[in-house]
Amino acid sequence: MVNKIPYMTLLEARDLYRETLQTKFSNGEIDFYFKSLMTESFQREPTQLALEPESELEPLEVLFIQEAATKLLKDYPLQYITGTVHFRTLKLKVDPRVLIPRPETEELVDWIVEDFGKRTDDTKDILDMGTGSGCIAIALAKENTQFTVSALDQEQPILDLAQENALNNGVQIHFFQQDLLQLDSLKQSFDILVSNPPYVMRKEQEQMQPNVLDHEPHQALFVPDEDPLVFYRAILKFASLHLNSEGIIYFEINPLLIDELRSLIQQFDYTISERMDIFGKVRMLRLKKK
Ligand SMILES: C[S@@+](CC[C@H](N)C(=O)[O-])C[C@H]1O[C@@H](n2cnc3c(N)ncnc32)[C@H](O)[C@@H]1O
Repeated sequence: MVNKIPYMTLLEARDLYRETLQTKFSNGEIDFYFKSLMTESFQREPTQLALEPESELEPLEVLFIQEAATKLLKDYPLQYITGTVHFRTLKLKVDPRVLIPRPETEELVDWIVEDFGKRTDDTKDILDMGTGSGCIAIALAKENTQFTVSALDQEQPILDLAQENALNNGVQIHFFQQDLLQLDSLKQSFDILVSNPPYVMRKEQEQMQPNVLDHEPHQALFVPDEDPLVFYRAILKFASLHLNSEGIIYFEINPLLIDELRSLIQQFDYTISERMDIFGKVRMLRLKKK
């Protein structure tokens, strides 16, 4: 038998949310989740709860937020429930195929934009390696029409989502399926390589939050403890042959691996700059060809 869905005002729904989720989250967090569901999933105005607390939710909305509460209690990420994430000026679709883009990665894009974003004097061929949702590639293509952006990932379903995001944001990216660890077959050269590759060591797993560990794709997160720089090494080898003169590489990195990365990069011919993220951790590297 199907339960009858009760009518509920916005205020009643919010209060019920607080009651249901309070065992796990603070009121501040719960209110944020509630507001996000209202705005992202139902396209309601963010101020509606304050201005029209007695306005009624549709039965399907009530059902949706009830299911969302169950998922939130099981640590399912809010962004996968709403299916959206905001990344710089972009609105992107996300689902469990892809990592939820992080603010640190916005900062990596900011760095490239600072270096090139406003320059329209010459074109730049860019390759985003491990594109996931397409956040880096799309943000760069959106920023400067002189950027010709390509992006790779290992599986077609991931690229399909990235392509959908590119179309929704009105940019053209050349997405292609390619294993980052088999780059020999790739013949094209680029002016800028950018990558936020998998970089979390398995031994870090114990400190990770269940919303990440239990729900985000492990292939996007983890590298083997015995070779955590495997992706950086592959990209640097590729760059030796396929990065144009005066080319630049931008990496997002695991701050725990900075010493090992410095040693690895010293084997190649680059000037390294390091940047901290908003949390004060060395999170980004820029490598300029000497
Ligand atoms: C840390 S996520 C970054 C995703 C996105 N660029 C971002 O910043 O949110 C790493 C990405 O690398 C991809 N990846 C992992 N192993 C790969 C491989 N062997 N070849 C190509 N891509 C790979 C994953 O599918 C994932 O999308």
